[in-house]
Amino acid sequence: MEKWNGKTAIVTGASAGIGDAIVRDLVKYGINVVALARRMDRLESLQDQLKDEPGKVIPIKCDVSDKTSIDIAFEEIEKQVGTVQILVNNAGICLMNEMFGDDDDKIDGIISSTINTNFLGLVRVARKGYKLMKKSDDYGIIINIGSIAGHNASLDFLVNVYPGTKFAVRAVTESMRQELNKLKDTKVRVCEISPGGVLTEIGGDTIFTPEKRAILESGEYPMLKSSNIAQTVLFMLMTPYDVNITEMIVKPVGEKI
Ligand SMILES: NC(=O)c1ccc[n+]([C@@H]2O[C@H](COP(=O)([O-])OP(=O)(O)OC[C@H]3O[C@@H](n4cnc5c(N)ncnc54)[C@H](OP(=O)(O)O)[C@@H]3O)[C@@H](O)[C@H]2O)c1
Repeated sequence: MEKWNGKTAIVTGASAGIGDAIVRDLVKYGINVVALARRMDRLESLQDQLKDEPGKVIPIKCDVSDKTSIDIAFEEIEKQVGTVQILVNNAGICLMNEMFGDDDDKIDGIISSTINTNFLGLVRVARKGYKLMKKSDDYGIIINIGSIAGHNASLDFLVNVYPGTKFAVRAVTESMRQELNKLKDTKVRVCEISPGGVLTEIGGDTIFTPEKRAILESGEYPMLKSSNIAQTVLFMLMTPYDVNITEMIVKPVGEKI
């Protein structure tokens, strides 16, 4: 990890769960982290909690489902840090809902925001992040967070287009890799991590209802911790610059999906 010391990372969805855990690990290695999310109070609290770590946290508000918000956030990132070397495209939502129900406005809203956040937002942030990587002649890496639902859409609960967006994250990661090859860009790698079930705030009470959460916390059904995915990100970063682990599935032992 020494090679990343003093470098700069962007982590989207840094205000909770997996993103929060990734930020905590990166700063330990002297990496300065631009932490993006909508809830600034959470990002500022994270910055405060990590103020004594070797790397610093730079909180910036960004709604990845909104192109204007991404544009404004990246202007600010460029102003504050100039270039970046690591991008973890982690922000995502998963809302429990049907696709064929009668509440058209509600369902259409959920479908749009899931696609805009999990897929369109990820692609837009990758484009912006890549530009900031190319401003320096340094090595770079883009890590897209997909899901086990991007390999198998047969989940226990109805989450409409969520698996579709995660299949798309895997496809677009490979398209990015192919484009970098065509550009003969051997300095920027792109890869995807597909976590299995991780006990986070995802879906609010719709997926992990208090009853379900209690069962999961009791250890009856195997779940990962956010820190397990943060460790996977570190593992990706530890590989040499000329090695590209393109995709990794991480499941808790005993996961049924
Ligand atoms: N938990 C799991 O079982 C699991 C499994 C596989 C994959 N994943 C993936 O892992 C990633 C992180 O999920 P998590 O489980 O850590 O969920 P989480 O605890 O709900 O955290 C989601 C993060 O994404 C951010 N976010 C959501 N919408 C956003 C938007 N429009 N703009 C900017 N940030 C936004 C949230 O920040 P704000 O609300 O403050 O904006 C929050 O920081 C997601 O891509 C998810 O699909 C999770």
